[in-house]
Amino acid sequence: MQSCAAQQVDAKLTNAAIFLVITLKPGPRNVAPCRDLCGEMASLVRAVGSRIPEGTLSCVMAFGSDAWDRIFGAPRPRDLHTFREIEGRHRAVSTPGDVLFHIRATRMDLCFELATHVMERLGDSVASADEVHGFGYFDSRDLIGFVDGTENPTDEAAAEATLVGDEDAGFSGGSYVMVQKYLHDLRAWNALPESEQEKIIGRTKLSNIELDDAVKPSCAHNALTSIIEDGRQLEILRDNMSFGDAGKGEYGTYFIGYARSPHRIEKMLTNMFIGNPPGNYDRLLDFSTAITGTLFFAPSADFLAAPIVDGGSDPERSNHLSPPDGSLGIGSLKETEQ
Ligand code: HEM
Repeated sequence: MQSCAAQQVDAKLTNAAIFLVITLKPGPRNVAPCRDLCGEMASLVRAVGSRIPEGTLSCVMAFGSDAWDRIFGAPRPRDLHTFREIEGRHRAVSTPGDVLFHIRATRMDLCFELATHVMERLGDSVASADEVHGFGYFDSRDLIGFVDGTENPTDEAAAEATLVGDEDAGFSGGSYVMVQKYLHDLRAWNALPESEQEKIIGRTKLSNIELDDAVKPSCAHNALTSIIEDGRQLEILRDNMSFGDAGKGEYGTYFIGYARSPHRIEKMLTNMFIGNPPGNYDRLLDFSTAITGTLFFAPSADFLAAPIVDGGSDPERSNHLSPPDGSLGIGSLKETEQ
């Protein structure tokens, strides 16, 4: 049981999403707008979402390792680190990103409206590292034509897979989030016989049935991403979306995975890129190139609304948050940027 309310990590799968990754410009002055936005985020989502309640607008706000220190300081989530590049037959690159906004709704206008307000508040304190507008493609398929998300845990199992518990009690209700933007070589993929594609994914294409173990290769995508440790399956929650630019010949899948520890996602990536055993890698990668890779931590909604930080001696943090002595901290309101 989590003691803190989580952000909407397990929001219902939707037809529209914006994955907005920003970097904070250097200097204390550029941290304040983002820190202020944390406290406002819930009311902003309510305000925009209330215009079309059935649009189920939600937003998860998550922070990269360096940004965590700049925005909140200590304490920090136990396992938060920058994305560790993996080099095997193919490479999982590590790319910059300080804050991720995972915005979901049934309609893109809601997502876009929220992204606009977010960027207005952040102003020129940030730069956009990447922005992807994702769409649901037919019956939850990705652009390679397979149904994506079938084996996602639901309800209690989803919470168990994604939310930090007593193992890092100060951050319970939070979740690690990994994103990777993949571009597909659809021409080459579509030239493969369907039976070969099915062996690569490990499920049938039209009917979405898992291949029998007798015919499923050990390098199938769903075999390499099934992680069993100490007799337990270590699950993650995915909400991949399709994106593209037909004019430029760009066809992609935006991978996003939530988990209570980055370890299980990293293990999946190692199996995919290096192989299990090494060399037995994921053939999906022969047709899909990861062009971004970033790890974030999405603190609980309670933390986001009122971060608990060690005010410490860093003046960056003391202009917004009450210092531990309970005073208003008026003496530290002045910015000390060099
Ligand atoms: C399963 C597509 C990247 C983890 C699947 C399935 C598809 C798919 C079609 C089968 C249906 C399902 O259960 O959802 C893709 C595509 C990717 C991608 C197109 C990017 C090009 C990743 C990455 C990870 C991952 C990077 C993890 C690091 C999983 C997991 C499953 C899965 C855990 C379920 C395995 C099971 O059956 O237990 N993916 N995936 N996927 N994928 Fe991916």
